[in-house]
Amino acid sequence: MTEENNQDPEVDLDAKLEEMMLNLRLPDPADLQDEIDGITSSEALAEFEKKHLGKGSSIAGEMRNLGRLPQDQRREAGRRINEVRQAVQGRVNERQEALTVQERAASMAAEGIDVTVDHRQIPIGSLHLIQQVIDEVSDIFTGLGYHVADGPEAELAWYNFDALNTPPDHPGRLESDTMYLDYGKPEDEMLLRAHTSPVQARYMEQNPPPVYIVSPGRAYRNDTIDASHLPVFFQIEGLAVDENIKFSDLKGTLEEFARQFFAPDTVVRLRPHYFPFTEPSAEVDVSCFNCDRGESSCRVCGGSGWLEMLGCGMVDPAVFEAVGYDPDAVTGFAFGMGVERLAMVRHGIDSIRHFIDNDLRFLEQFQG
Ligand code: DAH
Repeated sequence: MTEENNQDPEVDLDAKLEEMMLNLRLPDPADLQDEIDGITSSEALAEFEKKHLGKGSSIAGEMRNLGRLPQDQRREAGRRINEVRQAVQGRVNERQEALTVQERAASMAAEGIDVTVDHRQIPIGSLHLIQQVIDEVSDIFTGLGYHVADGPEAELAWYNFDALNTPPDHPGRLESDTMYLDYGKPEDEMLLRAHTSPVQARYMEQNPPPVYIVSPGRAYRNDTIDASHLPVFFQIEGLAVDENIKFSDLKGTLEEFARQFFAPDTVVRLRPHYFPFTEPSAEVDVSCFNCDRGESSCRVCGGSGWLEMLGCGMVDPAVFEAVGYDPDAVTGFAFGMGVERLAMVRHGIDSIRHFIDNDLRFLEQFQG
């Protein structure tokens, strides 16, 4: 670097000469640069700034003296003092910026924050449609005063079948239907639960009435995958036990649920059915929300006007006995629904396989 280049651009030789003629005592901003570069903290820089630009500085002194200069020199001297003051201030500010960056980095390092990861690069995912439906159904029932309960997926056969009044020769017990776990002791026979209903028995065993619960979770069956079956799928179980619960309470509850989940004018239809743990039992259809009562071209109901939704019934007294409740003191209803089925019906999804394919083109349509 040549000597000339080393000089502050704002301090040219003419200006220096002029300054001498004006007899001003001002620092050369370029001469201060080394000192400024050597300053390593904001506090030290503040000291420096005070010394060179503060009240006791030569710049401030010359400024104060301006009034004593002959009239014809005042303007030029003022201009020159300002020029030097601004040049020094500019260098101080520049150093301050650099120090601020360094000090922030040091304090973040001390706090352990890694700012090198660019968050914008990470795509933000969303809940799977199945989880969204579980959350929505749980919300509807908690709004009706229910609690959400949980139970194990690896379950004792007793809770999955016996406590739920399922006879020893029930076809569901066959290995062709249910996935058994190889667990030794016959009295502790274990399986992957074939439905979420065992949560009913577990909950009642642990809690006295009244009971108002829903229990979402996985269920397992020895099914081959096709458009409507998966060996692992989701159900939501419901159970209400109290004094004097009636079949009309069951229907009213399911109607309220269907109206909130599907459409406000949904109608519910119950058809007689059989489940071991409820008596009487019913299957529940909801009126098609997509067409006006069964248009033959409707892709949701296929023209029937009804959508098969879930199983339900009044809790069988034998179940109350199995869990230690007095069947003469309480009554109750139970219901169970398939989560995939709820989602498929509502969104017109044609195959249950979409839920496990992990195809983003499918999943991204349901960003909740
Ligand atoms: N557990 C039955 C199933 O998996 C569904 C069900 C029907 C549950 C009736 C219930 C009920 O609680 O009362 O098919």
